[in-house]
Amino acid sequence: MVSTKTSLGGFEFGNCLMNAAGVWCMTKDELAAVKSSAAGTFVTKTATLEYRSGNPEPRYQNVPLGSINSMGLPNQGLAYYLDYLLELQEAEPERTFILSVVGMSPDETHTILKSVEASDFKGLTELNLSCPNVPGKPQIAYDFDTTESLLREVFTYFTKPLGIKLPPYFDIVHFDQAAAIFNQFPLTFVNCVNSIGNGLYIEDETVVIKPKNGFGGIGGEYIKPTALANVHAFYQRLNPAIQIIGTGGVLTGRDAFEHILCGASMVQLGTTLQKEGLVAFEQITDELKVIMEEKGYETIEDFRGKLHYIDEK
Ligand code: SIN
Repeated sequence: MVSTKTSLGGFEFGNCLMNAAGVWCMTKDELAAVKSSAAGTFVTKTATLEYRSGNPEPRYQNVPLGSINSMGLPNQGLAYYLDYLLELQEAEPERTFILSVVGMSPDETHTILKSVEASDFKGLTELNLSCPNVPGKPQIAYDFDTTESLLREVFTYFTKPLGIKLPPYFDIVHFDQAAAIFNQFPLTFVNCVNSIGNGLYIEDETVVIKPKNGFGGIGGEYIKPTALANVHAFYQRLNPAIQIIGTGGVLTGRDAFEHILCGASMVQLGTTLQKEGLVAFEQITDELKVIMEEKGYETIEDFRGKLHYIDEK
């Protein structure tokens, strides 16, 4: 009997597919819909301390091979998502969900994480170090010194399971440097990757989104090779206790299979979920199960991380 169940941070999930932060996760209704779908769990929209309306519209556009967005972290504010998760924890204690957060400054990030630490929340927290879309705010994880000092401070008070959402890296030296930093901390997971930041998509002579004169994060089919490279590079370098969530370019069961082959314990759908809706979870799970059956794999642990290389002669 083929199963796509998985575990992350010691929590069990009935399916290894879930939404990526930003898609189907802005409101309780959207989160409840993901919860009732074939997804194994959900992650909230990245919460800042207070409500944010985000960047001016149009700020998201589907394009033939993916999407471009410059949302600018619109969200309902931390209390909205945390209260909902605390409610769910009472109602469905057997399930675990993920809270995504980041502050608009290091101080705000610490205020948020201290609130989460002080709360009764028992699930997983994801610290988003990679939003490319807030004008004037760089993607935190591209600044290794800032990332290291932020994590160092966080782990002086944060004792709950914590993961980080990463931007894509493109250089082997950066994989080495980033992994050396992450390995210093008791992270539960890293999530590779957020959108490829600051692309441009043009129709006729005009950009397709308004913020930042059209510059935005690229998702979907365009980014699968980059996403797979990041998943595998961190799988090769991180302490085995730090698990990996694979995100980027998952349109089919084959794409999910490749993320797991590269080392992902959980796989997230962003652009595909936005384009296809919740039915994508069922379709991609079914396709993944067919591949597993054909190959004689019963669980994702049978092939996770077991990417083959071409031997040098
Ligand atoms: C956004 O809200 O701008 C997208 C979220 C992200 O890229 O982290």
